[in-house]
Amino acid sequence: MSNFKAFVHTVLPERAVLRNYRLLLYEEIKENSEEKIKRKLQNKVVIVTGASSGIGKAIAKEYAQNGAKVVLAARNPEKLLRLKIDIEKNGGKAVFVETDVSKKSDCENLIKQTINRFGKIDILVNNAGISMRASFSKLKLEVLERVMNINFWGTVYCSKFALPYLLEQKGSIIGISSISGVTPLPGRTGYVASKYAMDGFLNTLRIEYLKKGLHVLVVHPGFTASNIRNTALNDEGKSQKETPRNENKMMPAEQVAKIVVRATLKRKRDLVLTMQGKMAVWIYKNFPRLADKLIYKEMSKEPDSPF
Ligand SMILES: NC(=O)c1ccc[n+]([C@@H]2O[C@H](COP(=O)([O-])OP(=O)(O)OC[C@H]3O[C@@H](n4cnc5c(N)ncnc54)[C@H](OP(=O)(O)O)[C@@H]3O)[C@@H](O)[C@H]2O)c1
Repeated sequence: MSNFKAFVHTVLPERAVLRNYRLLLYEEIKENSEEKIKRKLQNKVVIVTGASSGIGKAIAKEYAQNGAKVVLAARNPEKLLRLKIDIEKNGGKAVFVETDVSKKSDCENLIKQTINRFGKIDILVNNAGISMRASFSKLKLEVLERVMNINFWGTVYCSKFALPYLLEQKGSIIGISSISGVTPLPGRTGYVASKYAMDGFLNTLRIEYLKKGLHVLVVHPGFTASNIRNTALNDEGKSQKETPRNENKMMPAEQVAKIVVRATLKRKRDLVLTMQGKMAVWIYKNFPRLADKLIYKEMSKEPDSPF
């Protein structure tokens, strides 16, 4: 056998061993970090609004799977009950409170019920949201008001009532905003306005309580597969009932949930999700005129585009 072959023979098994070792190491690191997440979330109390579907449902499951006690809030009690049962079947703890976040009294009740049941709040996830799709000229003002009432005022009400308890725990307020909280989308005036308002409110809150230990995370998901485009309101305030985009090509809600839960524990400030979302934000910041044209072109390709 040549020297070279002998060398290859001795090196190859070593490479395989090395590969296995690297895999083991990777698994161990993963396991350790998963354990760390579970340890950190043990007995934390987390409220998730809009927990009956999509991103909120996935976030609630992710927190529960990692040992947190979750309070599920949305308007549909049947869906919330089903989720509670599902979480408990997998060993988690959950309660639900029927809540319409556009109602101040419902938000106050949600916080009261959480305190009665668990005595504290560590994390509030302001996720409940609704979208719309119509040209501004045709849009009934009531539709825009409805979107603002849920997306913006819902976030304000829940944050206001939860704040004293969150300060006690040096906890986290999380806002599920959108790429539309940073870059505009034509045909969605009300939605974009509500998300810009959410961003402004939460970013200000972060600074106001900088020295009091409050953590504020604003999440900007890109297109995510969910029910939001089916329930989006048209110019008259009726659900458009079908999505104008290919949901299969979007980020899964479960992936958003994993990222959000880990970012909470790292007390991150904000997140911009999906490659398309990151590019949109970068181009809009650096080349706003070009971005206007690109966004117009992309969104006008949607079937039945309102502009
Ligand atoms: N999917 C995306 O592409 C995307 C992208 C960026 C940001 N987001 C944001 O992610 C959040 C979650 O949306 P999603 O995509 O998961 O949509 P989704 O599947 O339609 O879920 C929306 C959730 O909000 C709840 N909700 C709506 N109105 C409510 C109200 N008045 N009071 C309480 N809960 C209410 C719904 O429950 P009930 O109907 O039972 O009340 C549902 O649980 C929203 O804030 C949305 O703006 C989504």
